[in-house]
Amino acid sequence: MKVYRANILYTPTPEELVILPHGYISVRSNGIIEGVYADKPENTDWRQVIDFGDRLLIPAFNDLHVHAPQYRNLGLALDLELLPWLNTYTFPEEMKYRDSDYATRIYRRFVHELWMQGTMRSAVFATVHPEATRILADLFVQSGMGAYVGLVGMNRNCPEKLSNTTEEVLNGMLMLREHLAEHGNNGMVQPIVTPRFVPSCSEEMLTALGHYAAETGMPVQSHLSENRSEIDWVKQLEPDSTCYGDAYNRYGLFGQTPTLMAHCCYTDGEEMELMRKNGVFVVHCPTSNSNLSSGMAPIRKFLNAGINVALGTDVSAGHHMSMLRVMQCAIQVSKLNYAQTHGQMQFLSLSEVFYLATKSGGSFFGKVGSFESGYEFDALVVDDSYLNYDNFTLPQRLERYIYLGDDRDIKRRFCRGVELPEPVL
Ligand code: GUN
Ligand code: FE
Repeated sequence: MKVYRANILYTPTPEELVILPHGYISVRSNGIIEGVYADKPENTDWRQVIDFGDRLLIPAFNDLHVHAPQYRNLGLALDLELLPWLNTYTFPEEMKYRDSDYATRIYRRFVHELWMQGTMRSAVFATVHPEATRILADLFVQSGMGAYVGLVGMNRNCPEKLSNTTEEVLNGMLMLREHLAEHGNNGMVQPIVTPRFVPSCSEEMLTALGHYAAETGMPVQSHLSENRSEIDWVKQLEPDSTCYGDAYNRYGLFGQTPTLMAHCCYTDGEEMELMRKNGVFVVHCPTSNSNLSSGMAPIRKFLNAGINVALGTDVSAGHHMSMLRVMQCAIQVSKLNYAQTHGQMQFLSLSEVFYLATKSGGSFFGKVGSFESGYEFDALVVDDSYLNYDNFTLPQRLERYIYLGDDRDIKRRFCRGVELPEPVL
């Protein structure tokens, strides 16, 4: 058993920010939280307590949508909308991952930066290349962080050199699954079924991936209703589907197993109802949606409807790896929605976005993202002393850290109870 002492902040519900000034958390040797306390738990010797002083102790961040092979394009190439952006900048970069040396070089930096930014769990798109995808998964294992790693399926409307056949993606997933069953760090790193999006996948491929998810119980991740031209195109490609989400649903890729759908800027009506009914997650990527002029996802409507919502950087359409930037942008975009709807769509509060980045996203990985008893201890120790030069309250310190802080403020990182040192990859 370990007992940590610090200024503890976490959100068991979207509205409730629990604050324990100089509180305590006890963590069992298996990494599970025993309890969280305002005062030193009984039977605890002072010598047992690991004291982080006046620092903040918060749940680590979870990025539920990020493209590892787009890491080199960060901060570049944001002058086009989605479809030309994919063809002009993104597909050419992803093609390079046929070269495993290149993949190793860039994926090392990518995994290192997740660690730096305090993102202890992520749901990641790789590319169509099985070897490079295995390399990425192994780097996660080495780092100690948790991840769902997806070998991408795509076989239409894309360059020949960046496509795979249905057989290739099934074989690749089988290999990755077997590899991670043995070497996946006790389930910390797992595979996820990853059709890129409807326009990239033939009916045959979508059918096969749906069957594969059903057979294995593997979760699914993809993109949904991000951009108007994309949605029009899906209508043409799938004329029998009643909405974009229905196209996935018909193939068993919409909540039949746990499912993440990035963006949902234009999700409404039937699509929304289907997501709610099937428990599909909206992964909100506000930095990406701003950069690609995609739109403003109506997150308040989703939350009111009881739909699961998580946050994602969507690197490299999102220009930064930090979940702090995503939380801040989620609030800002929600305020634009508020203005657009004359106040009908209430904007998101700080505690709500903090909840989305921690407990809500974490729930995709199990009991992750909160400090309640029974949760895995994923945590960050934050030194905000340079921001805290006057009598700021703890909620104010959290707010200022989210708006003004960065990776340099994170002094220690824990994932499932284990302190993770800087990965030497
Ligand atoms: N839709 C299909 N592929 C992509 C991608 O790589 N990024 C984003 N933002 N949307 C997509
Ligand atoms: Fe994406």
